[in-house]
Amino acid sequence: MKTIHFETIDSTNTYLKKNYEKLDNFTFVSADFQSAGRGRNNRNWKSEKGENLLFSLLIKDKTLIDKFSSLSVISAFSIIKALNLKHLSIKWPNDIYYKDSKLCGILLEAVTRNEIECLIIGIGLNVNQREFVGEYKRTPTSLYKITNQTQDMRLLKDKIFNQIYSDFMKVKEAYDFYNDIKEYDYLKDRQVYADINNEVKQIKVIGIDKDYSLKVLNDNELINLSSGEVTLVKY
Ligand code: BTN
Repeated sequence: MKTIHFETIDSTNTYLKKNYEKLDNFTFVSADFQSAGRGRNNRNWKSEKGENLLFSLLIKDKTLIDKFSSLSVISAFSIIKALNLKHLSIKWPNDIYYKDSKLCGILLEAVTRNEIECLIIGIGLNVNQREFVGEYKRTPTSLYKITNQTQDMRLLKDKIFNQIYSDFMKVKEAYDFYNDIKEYDYLKDRQVYADINNEVKQIKVIGIDKDYSLKVLNDNELINLSSGEVTLVKY
């Protein structure tokens, strides 16, 4: 495992995209501040300087690259284990929720030439930030908001990096986390809107499936969603 830290950078994901060739497998890059932090679907990821854990992990290992569809869910699970708090769950495929608020977002990107050269798993965990000002569908939460305590960022970072590293080593050795992660399935049995063949449909989620896709009921037919955005239906 290697670690690199920047006080300020555009985005830790972008840094790895530009530099992956000369960096080792399992390099973790973190930053106090990102001037152009990126979220999913071309959204920005804004975070106050030094308040949150912002990092990206470079994966060049072929065995892990082949399992890429499971890795954001497994990263979320590793973080949940490291945090050891109640009411945390994985909102498939890339978020960690505390009750009904987002605590952590994950942006998994693949750099592809003829085949996938590497994966970049970018993680933004809200730690000590107290207020979130901006346009959010639902206001996010942070460890501070949950526990009323300020976290030591270095300790937390070490704990999370070590947990992800050790879990990914197990994945490499063919350990299947499915039975562990399915206990943390936020969307299980909920109604959601999902984009299915370019049409937004209201569907019922059955739950995360063995291959880490999402099993849903669409027009009385069971189908599996492998990527894309699902939004909860509000009542
Ligand atoms: C999302 O929920 O939309 C995913 C957010 C991912 C944010 C992290 S912060 C560290 C890494 N660098 C980025 O530019 N994005 C990810």
